[in-house]
Amino acid sequence: MTRQRRVALVTGANKGIGFEVVRQLRREGFRVFLGARDEKGGRAAADKLNKEAEKDSDLVTRHTSLVTFLKIDIANNESIKRAAEEFSKQSDHLDALVNNAGILLDDDKDILTTTPETFEITLRTNTLGALLVSQAFVPFLKKSDAPRIVNVSSSGGQLTDGADGWAPAYCISKTALNGVTSQLAAALPKIAVNSVCPGWVRTDMGGANATRSVAEGASGIVWLAADAPQQETGKFWRDRKVIPW
Ligand SMILES: NC(=O)c1ccc[n+]([C@@H]2O[C@H](COP(=O)([O-])OP(=O)(O)OC[C@H]3O[C@@H](n4cnc5c(N)ncnc54)[C@H](OP(=O)(O)O)[C@@H]3O)[C@@H](O)[C@H]2O)c1
Repeated sequence: MTRQRRVALVTGANKGIGFEVVRQLRREGFRVFLGARDEKGGRAAADKLNKEAEKDSDLVTRHTSLVTFLKIDIANNESIKRAAEEFSKQSDHLDALVNNAGILLDDDKDILTTTPETFEITLRTNTLGALLVSQAFVPFLKKSDAPRIVNVSSSGGQLTDGADGWAPAYCISKTALNGVTSQLAAALPKIAVNSVCPGWVRTDMGGANATRSVAEGASGIVWLAADAPQQETGKFWRDRKVIPW
């Protein structure tokens, strides 16, 4: 019996780390759904990666791997449900869900000046968004032999050693995302659910002075989505090592 091709979904993948995660998973032979809220940008990103695949020297991945755009706004539950419905028409199972989409709105603010609007949209996107996407796609993950959820978090959300005051809404949203990881891991013993920090990465969010390339930032995420031991769950990782919450 041939093993069915592995399928992944990456949210917020029209650019930055998410785009690179799709690229690396495709090279590992996955069929990847490239999630993006903007249709034009999402389709253009998927087209670019499919064109890259045509030039692949590896004949197997050239012919079998495929990137498919999936419209999904993780801050909107109706959009998430529509995305799950659309996904069900194209695949009966999902092996890896990478909750990558995120926003950083308050890197110039402190906790005393963060507005309710900023706090709310940041937690709605970075925390609740990842939870709602996980809920919507768990039925497909349950049909995988080795299902995984990877929540892209940040060391800014670590509570060990205390906060340094930077971007409080963003950091709190990632602390809470780590809580989502821990709760989902408890609720879903057959699914490996982990948080990962990509390090400081040169993207629109990370800025030009960041220390890591997108390829370096994506690498630990891809490892958890594709290659980490299946029994590893409910943990927080960076560079393939467990780090404190
Ligand atoms: N860069 C770093 O140094 C760093 C460090 C630690 C953690 N991270 C985390 O890594 C992840 C990716 O960050 P990045 O650096 O690649 O950031 P980025 O370049 O700003 O990309 C963020 C992605 O998330 C998408 N997104 C935002 N809100 C969304 C929504 N409501 N629905 C769907 N997609 C949405 C964006 O789409 P649009 O283009 O439509 O806005 C974009 O594709 C984030 O979770 C971030 O917190 C990054």
